[in-house]
Amino acid sequence: MYCVKVAEVNKMCRDVVEIVFDRDLRGYPGQFVMLNVFGYEEIPLSLSSPKSLTVKGVGKTTKALLNSKKGDVFGVRGPFGRPFSLPSVDEKVYLVAGGIGIAPLNYLYQTLKDEFEVIAIHGIRCKDEIMYDYPEIATDDGSAGFKGNAVELFLRIADFEEKMRVYSCGPKPMLLNLYKAMKKRNLLDCLEISLENYMKCGIGICGSCVTECGKRVCKDGPVFKGIDIIF
Ligand SMILES: Cc1cc2nc3c(=O)[nH]c(=O)nc-3n(C[C@H](O)[C@H](O)[C@H](O)COP(=O)(O)OP(=O)(O)OC[C@H]3O[C@@H](n4cnc5c(N)ncnc54)[C@H](O)[C@@H]3O)c2cc1C
Ligand code: FES
Repeated sequence: MYCVKVAEVNKMCRDVVEIVFDRDLRGYPGQFVMLNVFGYEEIPLSLSSPKSLTVKGVGKTTKALLNSKKGDVFGVRGPFGRPFSLPSVDEKVYLVAGGIGIAPLNYLYQTLKDEFEVIAIHGIRCKDEIMYDYPEIATDDGSAGFKGNAVELFLRIADFEEKMRVYSCGPKPMLLNLYKAMKKRNLLDCLEISLENYMKCGIGICGSCVTECGKRVCKDGPVFKGIDIIF
């Protein structure tokens, strides 16, 4: 474990902050770190850029992180896990994010956007949950962008005639819908999904993150190719 110091905290929306560190965490898009929040738990968080984590307050530890400030110190193990693979030059790239699933996809977006045609879709409940400035927003209540979810918007705008690569992270029901839509079109080899199963060790030892098909999310993932997982 090593220690990192907070350089900046950006409030992204009501219960989400972006914590920027004073050093590069040396990871690739899709990888995660085990963040030790002293006095709380050690939890897995995806890199949302080379130097940042973007956290939604859902329980004790993540809610404590909402109050982070410049100068705070955290313990870090990692980065760990299999990152997203890079698309080929002739592939059109789609990012389909649900809620805080935007965190790993934001790092991927920043990495790809200057070299590839990238369509980034972010599905949220309402306009108050907008975190990053992406043009393709879907809201459940229609208060911003498309009224509906991220997968519905993806199906509306995707050009299935062209070569494509689809990257996704978000709640399980969203991932399942996307998986089914890609499977129906025989395009599972174009899909990469980042899973967020409950984790403890983060390095493939304890077994707490194992999926229904026997894969360890921390070691074999968290990014899986559509053809390699069974929902
Ligand atoms: C590989 C990976 C990457 C992740 N990346 C991010 C990220 O970038 N940003 C972010 O905000 N969160 C991310 N998470 C989820 C984050 O780790 C959990 O929200 C966190 O561990 C909850 O800890 P807590 O003490 O605040 O909540 P707890 O008190 O432990 O739980 C509060 C609630 O959160 C639920 N919860 C607990 N663990 C998870 C989990 N792994 N996934 C979803 N819900 C969970 C519990 O079921 C409970 O309902 C990631 C998880 C994994 C496995
Ligand atoms: S978290 Fe321990 S095996 Fe994956």
